[in-house]
Amino acid sequence: MARIVILTGAGISAESGLGTFRDKDGLWTKFNLEDVATPKGFRRNPALVHDFYNARRTNCANAQPNAAHKALARLEAALPGQVLVVTQNVDDLHQRAGSENVIQMHGALMRATCHACRHTWPAPAEMHPSDPCPACGRPHTRPDVVWFGEIPYHMEMIAEAVQQAELFAAIGTSGQVWPAAGFAAAARNAGAHCVELNLEQSEISHEFDAHHHGPASHVVPEWVDHVLTDRG
Ligand code: APR
Repeated sequence: MARIVILTGAGISAESGLGTFRDKDGLWTKFNLEDVATPKGFRRNPALVHDFYNARRTNCANAQPNAAHKALARLEAALPGQVLVVTQNVDDLHQRAGSENVIQMHGALMRATCHACRHTWPAPAEMHPSDPCPACGRPHTRPDVVWFGEIPYHMEMIAEAVQQAELFAAIGTSGQVWPAAGFAAAARNAGAHCVELNLEQSEISHEFDAHHHGPASHVVPEWVDHVLTDRG
C-alpha cells in the first residue's frame, strides 16, 4: 500500500492549457454543468455532451504534461511502490508524464463506454450519439467520464489508500466536490501528514498541516525535491 497518496485536481493541468472548472474563466463559467456533466443532460441532448467532450479530448491530445506531472512521475520512480496518484482529472497527462500508479476516480476522457452493456474501449477523437457500441452494437456510447450524481470509480481502493497514507498531498483542487473533498480530513484523522499545493487557499485548506501556494509547475517540483531529500 502506498505511503504517499497524492490527490490531484484541474489545477495541476492548468499550465498544460487545459481549463479548470471554477476559476474566473473556468469551464463551468462557459457551460452549464447540468447540460454537459449529468446523465439527465446526456439523455436530453447527447450531441451537445459529445461536442463538449470531443472538444476537451482534442485539447487534451494537443496538451503536454507540465513540470508538475513530471515531478510526480519522478517521485514514483524514486520511491517504487510507495506513491499513488488519485486524480479527479479525466485527462491522461499523469500517465503521459510517466506516472504508473494512477487512479482516475472521475473516469478518463480518452476512454469510451457503452451505457447499455458497460463495455469500455479507447475513445475515438470524435464521438457521436449514433456511434454503435463495438461490443453490443447499440447506439448508447458515451465518454467514460463520471458525471455529477454518478458514483466515482475505485472508491474502496481509494478509501483504503487514504487510511494507510503516511503523507497525503492535494494538488490543484478547490476541494468543492465530494467525495474527493473529504480525503484530506480522512487521511489526517488516520494520522497522515497533510500538505496542500495550490495556487491559493481552497475550501479545504484548514484540513492541511502545511501549504505551498503558487503555480503547480513551480511548487510541485520543489515539494518533490524536499520529499526525496527528507527521505534521502
Ligand atoms: N497551479 C496550482 N493550482 C491551480 C492552478 C495552477 N496553475 N490554477 C488553478 N489552480 C487551482 C485553483 O486555485 C483551484 O483551487 O486549482 C483548483 C481548481 O479547482 P476546480 O476548478 O474546482 O477543479 P477541481 O477541484 O479539480 O474540481 C473537482 O469538479 O467539476 C468537477 O469533475 C470535475 O474533477 C472535477 C471536480
